[in-house]
Amino acid sequence: MRKKIVAGNWKMNLDYAEGISLFSEIVNMVRDEQKGEQLAVICAPFIHLNSLSKLGGTTVRIGAQNCHQNESGAFTGEISAKMIKSVGCEYVIIGHSERRQYFAESDELLAAKTSAALKNNLIPIFCIGETLDERNNGSYFDVIKTQLTGGVFGLSAEDFSKVVLAYEPVWAIGTGLTATSEQAQEVHAYIRKEIAAKYGEELAEKTTILYGGSCNPKNAAELFAQKDIDGGLIGGASLKSRDFVDIVKTFNS
Ligand code: 13P
Repeated sequence: MRKKIVAGNWKMNLDYAEGISLFSEIVNMVRDEQKGEQLAVICAPFIHLNSLSKLGGTTVRIGAQNCHQNESGAFTGEISAKMIKSVGCEYVIIGHSERRQYFAESDELLAAKTSAALKNNLIPIFCIGETLDERNNGSYFDVIKTQLTGGVFGLSAEDFSKVVLAYEPVWAIGTGLTATSEQAQEVHAYIRKEIAAKYGEELAEKTTILYGGSCNPKNAAELFAQKDIDGGLIGGASLKSRDFVDIVKTFNS
């Protein structure tokens, strides 16, 4: 059985008090309603991580949204994987399309960040996905293969087995335009096939692949029912406790 995960990505939202308040609501609601094996994770801004990891316990796990590739040093304003781990985080998002687009993060840099995360026992949630142009001109399988090859296929099988992947089509992020369950399943199946070609069937079958992009309580059930979709990476809907927990509950229904 693959690990099922619903992870919220708060992005650059919520000040400290707002974050604590929303997170406390989420923890209480998830505690009441969580029945299955699925994991709930919240990936919050750095300022929240220390407090949230203490409040979340094993009910809601905590992740960061980025890390630096070096362990320490003269990198003013940056946060290392070691620091993130030291406040009790278990996950870190790497290669979100907003980081690729606004901070020019390359596949090579993302490979280094992934290695830094793994070295510090953080689970990378590694994001891949095509733009609208790449979807329309039919190059999306090639784009995804390039992102996988440059970002994570340099890892040993042992290290790769710890990675969670997230397919987030850029055109579906924050736009209200969700990929249909068929479109998402097609790409998830392709990703799993590429993992099998690189690391073998057994590892491919064990890899958790999340879908992200305008996922909400209304469309989550159909998306998560697809054979190769193992949960979601949720942006906007993770800022509302009821919506996020309803998406978590989808696995129970
Ligand atoms: P939305 O759910 O707001 O579309 O964002 C998805 C996302 O980018 C999660 O990382």
